Amino acid sequence: MSRIPRYQEHLKTGFTAEAASAARCRAYAVRAERDGLANLARHWRALAEEKDRLAIELLEAAEQVRGTDADLGNAISEERYENDALYPRMIRDVHEQAAADVLLKVVAAQKEHLRRLEALRESVNAAQGDVSLPVEVDRGTAPSAPAS
Ligand SMILES: [Fe+2]
Repeated sequence: MSRIPRYQEHLKTGFTAEAASAARCRAYAVRAERDGLANLARHWRALAEEKDRLAIELLEAAEQVRGTDADLGNAISEERYENDALYPRMIRDVHEQAAADVLLKVVAAQKEHLRRLEALRESVNAAQGDVSLPVEVDRGTAPSAPAS
């Protein structure tokens, strides 16, 4: 385990808290929508967006956003660790089938994420500047990556 300075550790903890909080707000929005409360859902989503902004600010301040190669490398090793160590350990440890099923589903989805990240790293290595953006990725909101 690499040691990072304490201020970075705290900024990262803040990032994890705000990122989780944003995701939680979105889950509440989905529930509100299902309950027929469309306006409440919009409030939850607006809060989620603000939490996202805070999370980004915290991760940048923690110097954990370093540009294309480092970011892709980080995302890939994180996904590998989760798929190879974190989730399998939890799956072996739970006896409730429903919980194990959710965890298995996450691993299956993440394997596909890992494939995408690896493909992305290959096209970044092959490309001179930015990578191409296939339609399935571009839903009208994808910001373009900076040229390397
Ligand atoms: Fe993940």
